[in-house]
Amino acid sequence: MTINTLFIAAEADPFIKVGGLGDVAGSLPVAIHNISKNNVDDSEVDIRLVLPFHFGIKQKGFQPELLGEFNVLSTDGPIQCQVYQTELEGMPVYFLDGNPIDEKSPVYAPEPILDGYKYVFFSLAALGLADFLDWRVDVLQANDWHTATAIYALKTGRIKLDQPTQPMTLHTLHNLPFMGFGIQQAFLDYGIPSAEDKILPEWARHAPLPLGLLTADKIVAVSPHYAEEILTPEFGCGLEDFLKTRSSNISGILNGLDTKVWNPETDPNLHKNYSTTSLNLRSLNKLDLQSRFDLVTRDDIPLVTLVSRMDPQKGIDIAIKGLRYCDDLPWQAIILGTGNPVVENMARSLEADYPDRVRSVIKFDSTLAHQLYASADIFMMPSRYEPCGLSQMISMRYGCAPIARATGGLVDTIQHVSHKVNGGTGFLFDRPYPSVFASVLKRALHLCHQPEIWRQIQLNGMQIDFSWEKSARRYIDVYKDLINS
Ligand code: GLC
Repeated sequence: MTINTLFIAAEADPFIKVGGLGDVAGSLPVAIHNISKNNVDDSEVDIRLVLPFHFGIKQKGFQPELLGEFNVLSTDGPIQCQVYQTELEGMPVYFLDGNPIDEKSPVYAPEPILDGYKYVFFSLAALGLADFLDWRVDVLQANDWHTATAIYALKTGRIKLDQPTQPMTLHTLHNLPFMGFGIQQAFLDYGIPSAEDKILPEWARHAPLPLGLLTADKIVAVSPHYAEEILTPEFGCGLEDFLKTRSSNISGILNGLDTKVWNPETDPNLHKNYSTTSLNLRSLNKLDLQSRFDLVTRDDIPLVTLVSRMDPQKGIDIAIKGLRYCDDLPWQAIILGTGNPVVENMARSLEADYPDRVRSVIKFDSTLAHQLYASADIFMMPSRYEPCGLSQMISMRYGCAPIARATGGLVDTIQHVSHKVNGGTGFLFDRPYPSVFASVLKRALHLCHQPEIWRQIQLNGMQIDFSWEKSARRYIDVYKDLINS
């Protein structure tokens, strides 16, 4: 039997991408679609992606076909929803439009209530789409807080689909702290009740994310380690005790990487392509970048980099302070990213204090990001928490050893270089303090000067298979479990 899966998300690459959710929603459903299409192991899944028709998608010039419209009910009466269809590698993709969405607002508005109206409407509309298409949904997969309302609306009976049995639900958790607070009025206006279940703390009973987590048949965190961490006070954001009651339905599946885009052998952004068999060519990228950034051009000076959204989650302050502790050693650093002004200024002051060895590039620059992965020796990822993380996988694939905090998906993807290198691919540190970061960085900087060891670390990382296929199969297994339960 084919499993029909409706995959709903706030963003998906290549249509629109703000963060890691966009990477996942743009590649996981396609990976599942492709496995199913090739029908390698009878895993028949008809998966379809649904997105809000954001202004940003329209601006990019995508021209989907208008299929028609239907109504979403609010307490003030019906609100029209227009349905558009396109495809991504043969997988059907729907864009839903309507008044709460088509304002010229970004994917995530600064005012919570605007996002509340947009995403509550979208979540309900995504369910309405199934009836509009007359397409049976077996599994509904929602992502993060934005679409959690769809799960909750189904499970509370606020929405009932016109099909004999209601869909099973899967809630994928990419980022627990973002719960969707401040949208209560939108819940009221769409007739969504707050939860009464005492198992949830009182403060969490009106926010979409906890309500999705409360009612989903299964919860999948984006890495096995994060699935465990959310049960602890440090990472559970106050929901740890509640989540423990759901632990038999929580699992972790690691995100994958688009290995076609991220391939140093073919990446068109690089000065010089290379692979595991031509690793010696890699340093040409470093020399090129050093000269472009007016740094001393010497392969034997370790180049460290950081490419990130400048968000407190990412712990960039830890790396910046940590680098200062290591200024008795030779290194150069190029920092790329934009976001929080306080963090941006910390990066600028580092460059001001070390003008001969630091460059801070405060912007979003995808081409430069590719070049940094291919040039630097060390990639810094001192995240305070990291549900999965993508950059560490990219850096390893490009032969750039990550230094990362031992949290979330970083633990699941990076093999710490212990005294014997063995299969080590990078460096993990425990507590998020600059001094702890610095001591690991110092060790990495010393190892950089031992070419044989360093080459082994690079090759170990480059050889890991981070492709989506394995994870996509695990999601298909979850769909099967849901259907059979
Ligand atoms: C969020 C998390 C990140 C994860 C991404 C995709 O952005 O912070 O760790 O990789 O979602 O799941």
